[in-house]
Amino acid sequence: MTLESKNIKNQKLEELKNIFPEIFEDKSINYEKLKIILEDEVEESKSEHYSFEWSGKKECYKTIKTKSNATLKVDEDRAIEGGDNVFIEGDNLEVLKLLQNAYHKKIKMIYIDPPYNKDKDFVYSDTWGDTITNYLIQTDQLRDEGYTTSKTNSTGRRHTNWLNMIYPRLWLSRNLLKDDGVIFVSIDDDEVANLRKVMDEIYGEENFVTTFIWEKRTTRENRRVFSVNHDYVLCYAKYKDSFENIRNLLPLTAKVKERYKNPDDDRRVGTTDTAKKELIKIFDGNETLDTPKSIPLLKRLIQIATKNDDTVLDFFAGSGTTAHAVMEQNQEDNGNRKYILVQLPEATEQNSEAYKAGYKKISDITKERIKRVITKLDYKDGFKSYKLDNSNFQVFKELKKRPNDSFEDIMKMLKMSVFTENILTQDAKHIDIVYEVGLKNGLSLSAKSEEIRTEKYSFIKLYEEQRVFMFCFDKEIQIDIQESVLEDAKLICFDKALTDSTKLNLRENIDLETL
Ligand SMILES: C[S@@+](CC[C@H](N)C(=O)[O-])C[C@H]1O[C@@H](n2cnc3c(N)ncnc32)[C@H](O)[C@@H]1O
Repeated sequence: MTLESKNIKNQKLEELKNIFPEIFEDKSINYEKLKIILEDEVEESKSEHYSFEWSGKKECYKTIKTKSNATLKVDEDRAIEGGDNVFIEGDNLEVLKLLQNAYHKKIKMIYIDPPYNKDKDFVYSDTWGDTITNYLIQTDQLRDEGYTTSKTNSTGRRHTNWLNMIYPRLWLSRNLLKDDGVIFVSIDDDEVANLRKVMDEIYGEENFVTTFIWEKRTTRENRRVFSVNHDYVLCYAKYKDSFENIRNLLPLTAKVKERYKNPDDDRRVGTTDTAKKELIKIFDGNETLDTPKSIPLLKRLIQIATKNDDTVLDFFAGSGTTAHAVMEQNQEDNGNRKYILVQLPEATEQNSEAYKAGYKKISDITKERIKRVITKLDYKDGFKSYKLDNSNFQVFKELKKRPNDSFEDIMKMLKMSVFTENILTQDAKHIDIVYEVGLKNGLSLSAKSEEIRTEKYSFIKLYEEQRVFMFCFDKEIQIDIQESVLEDAKLICFDKALTDSTKLNLRENIDLETL
């Protein structure tokens, strides 16, 4: 049973081992053998070579490999019952790390509309090390403790900061795509060239599908010499061949293809203006977000890339257009597509209409829109809501407080913590522990939970498809618990609730893990 997010390095090594088992010798890679196999494809190390570099790129790999100490806590107030859709409030880097295990190769389509790196844009800055405290500071959640954050981007490292933000997120999200999955990324002229390079590197140039041009404005902008009316949507497949196979099965007519080649004539995918009007209507006349994407654009992408029960992920959710489009599309073709949205609790401007209408964070807007659309469409399913937060397990909290400890000190402390009374943080709720352990051990956020009480024991059952975890948080557990554990379920309980002999005996008969 693991309490950590997935080890990314090991996962990649496993993938490499599957392709080139012969290059592994005593667990390390024989580079010479790889060169022999690939001949001309392996570049000799030399001072000049073709690559895309910027300051901080090496740290991006560190960021990717650093495991998450965080968790996702159930946010019941904000959910609507039913269905497998998920909304997550939090920084998407931490969230993507937490999803690595349970959602590996589960997502069919990713759509993102990241900050375009305009002066007004808030570009999240990852610090190395304590990412969850960094998150709380950047989202103003530690204001009372004296930390403040600023939205200005004044360091003069504009492209660098943006690249350092986007690279690890794109890298991690690719792991979640199915082999026939596809990603669409909205962008404009400021970063399109950098984004293309980064995507070529992460996805492989050969998996570039196309760049769509989205006409975001139909009115002229007279202030400029050339009026820029469009954004881009870059499209990459995880494996282009697999994607092309499934894409052919979709109702993508020659006429539709033609429209994408020449979208300037196409008014059918909406504009920022129509999207804004739609959003204002949803929020009873209040303007909540400046530049939402249009629902028809998102629906078109969903039609191109998904089948009826696929899952769509958007980890820069903004006002939640992606969820809205998934729901409308499902209603139109009787589909059962699911959405997962991630949105930072970015503070809204105090003088904005959104703030005045009570939406202090953009994530409040996202959730409220999803709820209103569910009501408006009388939609069949609700959504589950989660919040990024500190782990429920004390070990991670302790580790965080002692960043300068040596490895030995940390190991000593980890061992100690196994024997202390408080393996949990003070405010840990049972349901949150259940989902933290479930997620880190491969159960998705739409796994169902249910309370079960027998005469002697209380359980929370967490289940999804064939996998069943039964958590028992009782303080004393005897051998008779095995009669209440369902067949093929794993029992998870506190180590200190069992005597050594009970533990041994139980292990003979049931699948047992202790915390
Ligand atoms: C351009 S907007 C997306 C608009 C969206 N497509 C729509 O139709 O409303 C980008 C969003 O990404 C969010 N964001 C920026 N950094 C983030 C991060 N690290 N994690 C999660 N969301 C983030 C911003 O708060 C912003 O709402």
